[in-house]
Amino acid sequence: MIRDLDTPALLVDVTRLDANLTRVAAALSAHGVALRPHWKTSKCLEVAKRQLASGAVGFTCSTPAEVTALGEAGIRGLLWAHLPVGAPKVRLAVEAVRAYGAVLIADSVAVAEPLSEALTAAGLVADLFLDVDTGLGRTGVARAEAVRVAREIAALPGLRLCGVLTHEGHLYGFGQDHEALDRAGASSSKVLVSVADTLRDAGLPIETVSVGSTPGLATAPYVAGVTEARPGTYVYNDGNQLRLGTATLDQCALTVLARVVSVRPGTAIIDAGSKALSSDAVSAENGYGMVLDVDGLPLDVTFPRANEEHGFLAGPGVGSLTVGDLVRVLPHHACATVTMWSEVIAVRDQDLYERWPVVARH
Ligand SMILES: Cc1ncc(COP(=O)(O)O)c(C=O)c1O
Repeated sequence: MIRDLDTPALLVDVTRLDANLTRVAAALSAHGVALRPHWKTSKCLEVAKRQLASGAVGFTCSTPAEVTALGEAGIRGLLWAHLPVGAPKVRLAVEAVRAYGAVLIADSVAVAEPLSEALTAAGLVADLFLDVDTGLGRTGVARAEAVRVAREIAALPGLRLCGVLTHEGHLYGFGQDHEALDRAGASSSKVLVSVADTLRDAGLPIETVSVGSTPGLATAPYVAGVTEARPGTYVYNDGNQLRLGTATLDQCALTVLARVVSVRPGTAIIDAGSKALSSDAVSAENGYGMVLDVDGLPLDVTFPRANEEHGFLAGPGVGSLTVGDLVRVLPHHACATVTMWSEVIAVRDQDLYERWPVVARH
């Protein structure tokens, strides 16, 4: 039973997880779009197995540790969607290509050239996607520069430029304006598809057109010409998705279970703080997360402050909390919360299901 667990504990509602996996995989498959989910959200092999069973063709990774964990588990179709810059990363990229056939990305010749040299020296040829900026302003070549950069990269030995990729992460900035968010998701994909067409016109064999984000899931994958989607957060969803309106509360599968350890007028102290939830996406308005009761129903309680191992709860409902009471906190950012933990506890209703290790945390 959940009530018997020591706290804090990171819970995954398996019924909701499986529903999220099935819903997204079915929608993409109905449109002939391949699902290569980002594994940074769960970093959990049990979740990866469920994703493969529901139709994922492989995984997207941020870190070399993620690539290695999946590769060592025998999983293929790995896309390392982070720029491998610096000699240590180039070595890891070569190893990921040699051992698991990983696909790499680049957004400049400065990134691609050292890869080309190292891969050629190792007698390898890697598939490579051109990272294109469609609005986030992080990495990615600008649309106007794409053909020039792609031609230069394609001329390098050891690399086969065969795809384009974008992360439409700017959609996180759209607040509750759902129509604007959907328009931006579609227009980001249209930019990527047009870059792919231009590269093909220039004689480059672009096969994969890869988009990726959870807020963009309703639109970005379904623009004609997109071949692949890489959502990550969709497995668990979180407070960010709830605020954007891109998930409902009953699609949120990840919560931190905590106990009230002390009460004082107007405040209840729980045994979960910034080391349980992370401080990512914390704001004065939203605090450290949404406070729910042990059954997952919202309480009229806020979570404005945290120390490392303590959370400060306030708000009208706090007076009914007493020492020993359990609450569940829905984190703002599932991916950031998961990396604070070495295991998740999979639960069904109020029953424990299994303990799943979180691996590749660094
Ligand atoms: C390159 C890339 N692809 C896909 C994703 C998945 O996005 P989300 O977490 O919104 O599902 C991310 C997230 O940061 C990303 O950086």
